[in-house]
Amino acid sequence: MKEITFNDIEGKIAEAETEGQVEALRIEYLGRKGSITKELRNISELPKSKRAREGARLNEIKNKMEEALSDRIDQLRSQKLQEESSQHYDMTMPGISPGIGHLHPVEQLERDVVELFMQLGFEVVDGPEIETEWYCFEALNIGPDHPARDMQDTFYLENGAVPRTHTSSVQIRHMENNNPPIRVIAPGKVYRNEDEDATHIWSFRQVEGLVVDYDISLSDLKGTLEYMLKGLFGEDTELRLRSNYFPYTEPSVEMDASCMVCNEASRRHCRVCKGTGWVELGGAGMVHPQVLRNVGVDPEEYSGFAFGFGLERITAVKYQLTDLRDLWRPDIRFLRQF
Ligand code: PHE
Repeated sequence: MKEITFNDIEGKIAEAETEGQVEALRIEYLGRKGSITKELRNISELPKSKRAREGARLNEIKNKMEEALSDRIDQLRSQKLQEESSQHYDMTMPGISPGIGHLHPVEQLERDVVELFMQLGFEVVDGPEIETEWYCFEALNIGPDHPARDMQDTFYLENGAVPRTHTSSVQIRHMENNNPPIRVIAPGKVYRNEDEDATHIWSFRQVEGLVVDYDISLSDLKGTLEYMLKGLFGEDTELRLRSNYFPYTEPSVEMDASCMVCNEASRRHCRVCKGTGWVELGGAGMVHPQVLRNVGVDPEEYSGFAFGFGLERITAVKYQLTDLRDLWRPDIRFLRQF
């Protein structure tokens, strides 16, 4: 009988294509009736001089074979795993969305605005939504005959308190409790007795800004607003101030931004700026000396500026929405777009 060598066995193991075939080889050579097992058993029948050498030779084959068998099994298993994964796992398939939502577009804008003012060193403050007439009107120099004091424009509670009609009330609260230098921004909800339509809603969000320090001038206001506009809508955006009237600022201005939707060519049909090239953002001005006096700040020593604007309106401009009311309808199909 031909002598068994590891070379012959090694080739066979490499050719085994399944774990079953590998196992069959193990049985064929190393099983109870396997050929190596048999030869090992027969060693005692060899002449004494050959026993030790033949025993060592067979044991070496046995050890090497065991190692080769288990290597081959490992190989086959990892091959199989690879084949399976290439069949069932397509890296290019779109993933399964975990269904994460996103911030409401008005909230996004509010955070963007806050972020820009934080860069300028402003502090974020807030105040109550239910106010007294003092904070909402009187301290702001808004006389009893001002239309904002009218039942038409303002919700009054039975106890005479008002859901604030603007965030300017926070100016007063902050100045009462803090000395200049003041640099604050106050985002928050406001309420007005509006007949709702596409451009009016009865509750909306405003951002109020207030700076009081030595030598604050209108150009500080302008620079600050310009910084915000460029930050929100891009470096090309321009600011325009038009004269206006608020009882709590003097002079008072209306702030406009150059239309961020159209260009000169498409302006004529622009629905956002209605062909004017400008969109109205909100009001601003230099804090009225009487307002400073009302909170114990000396207008001979200090001056300041304030501004306030509605976030829904700017959101609408940004996304070219035609109806403000859509923003607060809980319609996920609408909100998902932003
Ligand atoms: N409070 C004003 C409004 O609601 C905006 C404003 C704020 C104007 C601060 C001037 C100064 O329209």
